[in-house]
Amino acid sequence: MADNKFMISPKPTIPLSLSLLSLSLFLLPLLASPHPTPTPWPLQFHSILFMNNTKGNLQVVDLWYDWPNRRNFNIIQNQLGKKLYDLEWGNGTSYYYTLDENKECKTRLFPVGILRPNWLDGANYVGEVYRDGFLCNVWEKVDFITYYEDVATKRPVSWAFYTGMVAHVMTFEVGKVLDDPNWQAPVYCFEDTNHQNKPILESTVAFPTDHRSLMRDVAPGIPMVI
Ligand SMILES: *[C@@H]1O[C@H](CO)[C@@H](O)[C@H](O)[C@H]1NC(C)=O
Ligand SMILES: *[C@@H]1O[C@H](CO)[C@@H](O)[C@H](O)[C@H]1NC(C)=O
Repeated sequence: MADNKFMISPKPTIPLSLSLLSLSLFLLPLLASPHPTPTPWPLQFHSILFMNNTKGNLQVVDLWYDWPNRRNFNIIQNQLGKKLYDLEWGNGTSYYYTLDENKECKTRLFPVGILRPNWLDGANYVGEVYRDGFLCNVWEKVDFITYYEDVATKRPVSWAFYTGMVAHVMTFEVGKVLDDPNWQAPVYCFEDTNHQNKPILESTVAFPTDHRSLMRDVAPGIPMVI
């Protein structure tokens, strides 16, 4: 039949599907999901952290993160030792005190505020690894922190500061807020007679040596704007 030569044979479709194939092979990497990104911190949460500075000192830290009120609280129980309260305000003032009869208090002024909820933005994705028994996505802020987040629940599992301090997240209560009266530093933090309480302006590079669990202490390593 004369019409036959105008029929489209299967042959020409082969180059067509080949080109479609190569096109999709080319597009596939572009369509594939990019590296996972760290989940921003909830605006408010309470966490109990088990800390190990890997030099033999263990701490349990009550972390109260409260971004809407621009405040952060670390209540640090050293193993069989001092209980220290580290109250951090977004304006850069930190009160660092005990609530025992020694009535110690140190005021520190930091040039930075508290960590923003998205402070992990821009961290380098490292991959997946098991940490504390959880399959985690891992990110690194170079020379600062390695951060482990549960793949399944997106909750933080652990982080490790480059100083050697390691935090293990024992509880993570989203939305939990510490009542206002607890955010009041004791009166002896404000007494002029308290000679040990000369405000110390912390430089952006000098880290207090013994309390590296504190978020503020590690904050200078990353850009922050309040
Ligand atoms: C703390 O860290 C050190 C060094 O990694 C380790 O040897 C030790 O077992 C850890 N202690 C606890 C209680 O996890
Ligand atoms: C920061 O805020 C706290 C709490 O309101 C206040 O006590 C402190 O004086 C403030 N510090 C500065 C430097 O403004």
